[in-house]
Amino acid sequence: MNIGIIGVGYVGLVTGVGFAHFKNKVVCFDIDQNKINHLNNGDLPIYEEGLDEYLEKAIDSNLISFTNNLDDCISSSDIIFLCVGTPQDKAGAADLKYLIKAVDDIVEVAKKDLILVCKSTVPVGTCDKIEKRINLSNDDNRSKFKVVSNPEFLKEGTALKDFLEPDRVVLGIDDSDYESSKVFFDLYAEIVSDQSLILVMPRRDAELTKYAANAMLATKISFINEIAVISDKYDADIKNIQKGIGADPRIGYEFLNPGCGYGGSCFPKDVKALINKAKEKNIESYVLGAVDKRNELQKKYLADKVKSFFFNKENVTVSIWGLSFKPNTDDIRCASSLDVITELLDSGFKIKAYDPISNASVEEYFNDIGSDILSFEINKYDALKESHGLILLTEWDEFKSFDFSKADDLMLSKNIFDGRNFYDKDEFLSHDWKYSGIGR
Ligand code: UGA
Repeated sequence: MNIGIIGVGYVGLVTGVGFAHFKNKVVCFDIDQNKINHLNNGDLPIYEEGLDEYLEKAIDSNLISFTNNLDDCISSSDIIFLCVGTPQDKAGAADLKYLIKAVDDIVEVAKKDLILVCKSTVPVGTCDKIEKRINLSNDDNRSKFKVVSNPEFLKEGTALKDFLEPDRVVLGIDDSDYESSKVFFDLYAEIVSDQSLILVMPRRDAELTKYAANAMLATKISFINEIAVISDKYDADIKNIQKGIGADPRIGYEFLNPGCGYGGSCFPKDVKALINKAKEKNIESYVLGAVDKRNELQKKYLADKVKSFFFNKENVTVSIWGLSFKPNTDDIRCASSLDVITELLDSGFKIKAYDPISNASVEEYFNDIGSDILSFEINKYDALKESHGLILLTEWDEFKSFDFSKADDLMLSKNIFDGRNFYDKDEFLSHDWKYSGIGR
């Protein structure tokens, strides 16, 4: 099929490259000329496992191209996936300005029938709004444009795999829109092995499903984070509690790892947007409000532990391993590292930080801080030199191996603050380290 992608951020790129892999002809549009030039040469603006290889293959087979000419994208496509950002506005709601602008521009240049697919994460009712706006602009548009919701469930770090092997495809299609249903079943037939994984529902239900999925996952994390804080205060070990509750298949083990708060571009923003949407209907979101609040507190929790551990903060240097909001991504949006670093700098600590790929973006974020106070090191052991304690914030694989004798030689004292409960506590204790995790 001929597919157009509007917006080549994370979602747009993975979706475009993914559809091209299944032999669809994809044209991606973005207003950023620089990005387009790079992409046409096969250079990715983001790090996502496997994406570079798949992009190269798609370019070589002439199945994907990138343009900043909207007309080129629209005229060669039958289905348009809207993948523009829906950032958080000042009130915590999803800001739809980029989406609305994209729709208006498409309607202006389109000369043939099109299916507009909303892949961007949008509040319930957005597809209806888009449809109304299109229809109001011209009566002929009623038959020319179909509006469909097809939310994404991609996780950064495994986004391409999630696209190629989805656990479900949610399609929000109007009951009467049989044509679009057929097109989508054909499109996804290549990708899903079992048609029952394609869940067709009204558009509003599809839109709300996306928010409910992220809110549920965020709820699990905030729940276990709160239990971990209680566990800390009563000298219990959260690892045992995780085992004890996860064994119940109704609860399960997934997304029950306590830490220093959830980050990224989705959970923090989507939980807030859902609270905001409920408020529009005078619903007080007690559960979601608590999920959000616990996350804010949790981001400070580890920094508070470090602060209360060291008596004289002025002369203390700490090392931080891991800066991205989770492993296998360079994304630092809403990463806990930003909060932890800010808290510790405010209290007078000196910091040596290291991340396998996010050093540069965090350095830019703190560009007003001198390197004598906050430095970014080129490898994990350099970050331990003359440090009084190590803080683990992101559980990258390369941090698994830990050379105790090397660390002992480099560091001034042996303290570890394990923000992801990543390490074997007993192993650290047996090497005469002081260990402090989240809830253990
Ligand atoms: C999330 C969802 O998992 C995807 O299904 C969804 O498609 C995506 O948002 C989106 O809306 O686009 P993502 O933001 O990539 O994906 O990251 P997650 O793997 O969900 O992790 C989010 C945060 O939760 C990370 O900071 C991670 O460290 C934290 N987390 C995760 C925990 O603290 N504990 C856990 O047990 C799991």
